[in-house]
Amino acid sequence: MSTNSLPLFQKFKLPNGVEYEQPLGLFINGEFVAGKEGKTFEVLNPATGQNSGFVHEATAVDVDIAVDAAEKAFYEGPWSRITPADRGKLLLKLADLFEENLTVLASIEAFDNGKAIQLAKGDIGACVGCLRYYGGWADKIHGKVIDTASDSFTYTKQEAIGVCGQIIPWNFPLLMWAWKIGPAIACGNTVVLKTAEQTPLGGLYAASLCKEAGFPPGVINIISGFGRTAGSAIASHMKIHKVAFTGSTPVGRQIMKAAADSNLKKVTLELGGKSPNIVCEDADIEKAVEWINFGIYYNGGQCCCAGSRIYVQDTIYDKVVAAFKKRAEENVVGNPFDEKTFQGAQVSQAQYDRIMKYIDIGKQEGAVVETGGVRHGDEGWFIKPTIFSHVTEDMRIMQEEIFGPVCSIAKFHDIEDVVAKGNGTQYGLASAVHTKSISTAMEISSKLRAGTVWVNCYNSLHWALPFGGYGESGIGRELGKEALRNYTQVKTVNINLA
Ligand code: NAI
Ligand code: MG
Repeated sequence: MSTNSLPLFQKFKLPNGVEYEQPLGLFINGEFVAGKEGKTFEVLNPATGQNSGFVHEATAVDVDIAVDAAEKAFYEGPWSRITPADRGKLLLKLADLFEENLTVLASIEAFDNGKAIQLAKGDIGACVGCLRYYGGWADKIHGKVIDTASDSFTYTKQEAIGVCGQIIPWNFPLLMWAWKIGPAIACGNTVVLKTAEQTPLGGLYAASLCKEAGFPPGVINIISGFGRTAGSAIASHMKIHKVAFTGSTPVGRQIMKAAADSNLKKVTLELGGKSPNIVCEDADIEKAVEWINFGIYYNGGQCCCAGSRIYVQDTIYDKVVAAFKKRAEENVVGNPFDEKTFQGAQVSQAQYDRIMKYIDIGKQEGAVVETGGVRHGDEGWFIKPTIFSHVTEDMRIMQEEIFGPVCSIAKFHDIEDVVAKGNGTQYGLASAVHTKSISTAMEISSKLRAGTVWVNCYNSLHWALPFGGYGESGIGRELGKEALRNYTQVKTVNINLA
């Protein structure tokens, strides 16, 4: 389709009856516009595999235009003079607008990503919390006075970096949007954010809320486009001084290389995982089974922190496998817009194929499918909750991120054994331990090399808690006060009083 025929807005009616105006253009300098090269791309509905519409596509030239707008906003526009408190007010206003538009935003997410509407509502609630939290930080970011000599006065300032590039994935399109925009804006930066090509719709609707909230033009720019074009243009841009990326480990490496080869922009990466979820013999088994089920099948397993390696103490292994298998089979899989659905569709044909390929690999490696292993329904990209047993540590399904509703369940003997197994991948994003013993919980927690350890729970994220990876799971931490470091740099001013 050419831009001549694709409008900048279109009325959408979603399967649950929600009607709204969907922006289709790139949001640059406060306006929705077509891409300079006149390209558009197709958006697909994961629940059916059918076309949902088209959006305008950004290429490198649009990235340049967006960066120029963001740079101008940073150095010259009203944003360059705004008080920290007023930055906070704008974020609080944006949080209010997310809250007022919760139903439409959640519906867009369910439609665009294929996730269950009940989970999508939770995502938007977390966006509200995150934006409000960073709204609160905006006027509490400050430096120090450091005394070094009686005849000097020295202070530090925690200054914004400038234009930040942000590249987000498709698994939590709006939540990743909020995680990125919140701290960057609280610190006074301007941003060019690229959504994932699979899920551009929510980010554009959120862009219209930025406009409504009153952000000056150029402060927040949201573009739709592909990684190899728009994404790599961000990573290698000479006027972008910080890039934040969430996605696959291979692309994370490319982003870092592009940053190194261009202007040494600061890099934070939130990458993959192969997180261990450990059930000790003294755990409350019923509750532990609920958490291992939630840990892997939440969001169809499309979570960087998914608990995909389940380790159960040998004394209770058979009992847990039986209970978990029963529980997994009870999950309601299907229509994302059914309020009872827990697991919707996988995001794309490519992801569906990738997951099915891993299921084949697991079988070939000699693992046993306890349940699932096949598609669900006859249209769209649904996969039944899948459990592999009889796995060994060296199998690819135990080492590589599958990013779908597929986990492995294995035995361990004692703490030493499970710590070695838990730490046995290149990743280190999340982990969990289920036990009634505080000393077991603390011993395992301190020995696991992971950015998060959950005890007697799973996926228990909160905007106030830092989140990020050890090892090849990434660099830096998002959320919490920690994320403010990603978006500021320290200036030291030393005044000679002599
Ligand atoms: P991806 O890493 O290719 O895509 C994530 C984002 O990066 C998208 O916005 C994409 O357009 C962009 N991108 C891709 N190539 C780029 C490049 N060369 N330069 C700059 N930006 C680029 O992930 P993909 O292909 O969608 O999924 C593949 C696997 O990645 C998944 O199966 C999963 O294992 C992992 N993944 C992890 C995520 C996480 O939350 N940590 C999220 C999405 C995917
Ligand atoms: Mg990719």
